[in-house]
Amino acid sequence: MEQDRLYQDPDLADFYDVENVWSADQDCCRSLAEGCASVLDLGCGTGWLAAALAAEAERAVFGVDPAGAMLDIARARPGGDRVTWVRGDGRSVRLGRRFDLVVLTGHAFQVFLTPEDQLAALRTIAAHLAPTGRFIFDSRNPAVEEWREWTPETSAHRIDHPRFGAVDAWNDVEHNPATGVVTYGTYYRIVADGRLLSSRSRIAFPPRPQLEALIGQAGLAVDTWLGDWTGAPWTPASRDHIPLGRLLRS
Ligand SMILES: C[S@@+](CC[C@H](N)C(=O)[O-])C[C@H]1O[C@@H](n2cnc3c(N)ncnc32)[C@H](O)[C@@H]1O
Repeated sequence: MEQDRLYQDPDLADFYDVENVWSADQDCCRSLAEGCASVLDLGCGTGWLAAALAAEAERAVFGVDPAGAMLDIARARPGGDRVTWVRGDGRSVRLGRRFDLVVLTGHAFQVFLTPEDQLAALRTIAAHLAPTGRFIFDSRNPAVEEWREWTPETSAHRIDHPRFGAVDAWNDVEHNPATGVVTYGTYYRIVADGRLLSSRSRIAFPPRPQLEALIGQAGLAVDTWLGDWTGAPWTPASRDHIPLGRLLRS
């Protein structure tokens, strides 16, 4: 799996919290975490969810991500010292303990491009779930073709960045119908000096039947398929596939 500069480059990583706001996925995980003594955030990024979950209760919270630049931001955030941050790969990391809740938010699951990588990530979830623990993650529904919105025309916006000042931002995108993989570019032009920061990222859009099969193979079972993080039930037109489940009982 290639390294994604969007998360590995400190200047690009520094845009993550400017571009993303606390939203329904964090709220949903927060309510699922109620009563949980331990939470694992896989693909935790800049760690705002993990830090919030560690701050609000006496619980063990671990955040795992392979991107050092994202983890540096996570460690430095208020409350970051209450989380155990682990630089690791969601496909292979083994922490030697189990959790009451395992989450992947912000469509982190889509970084796993092949069914083999997706299965490996699901096996990581299974290996870290307590017998009564639950997992949840989101993956965009390919039927909605959300990538069509990520063109330069529709995505162009201006950011007021705390370090770089005014920045013009946009994306471009390519969809490979043979693999279902979407490659998107992220561009930030710093207005003051004209410098361009950019990355190319690849994400998968696995269809629901593929997710269902892999989840079963990993030894997991889904209790509910949500269609968004506010709790709406899944329909074929939902923007997201959000399985909420647990270990498969043998
Ligand atoms: C879109 S961000 C989501 C971050 C965070 N979960 C959130 O909701 O803000 C995707 C994250 O997945 C991480 N990632 C990439 N490859 C990964 C892997 N093999 N295992 C675990 N995480 C990975 C990236 O470094 C990045 O932090």
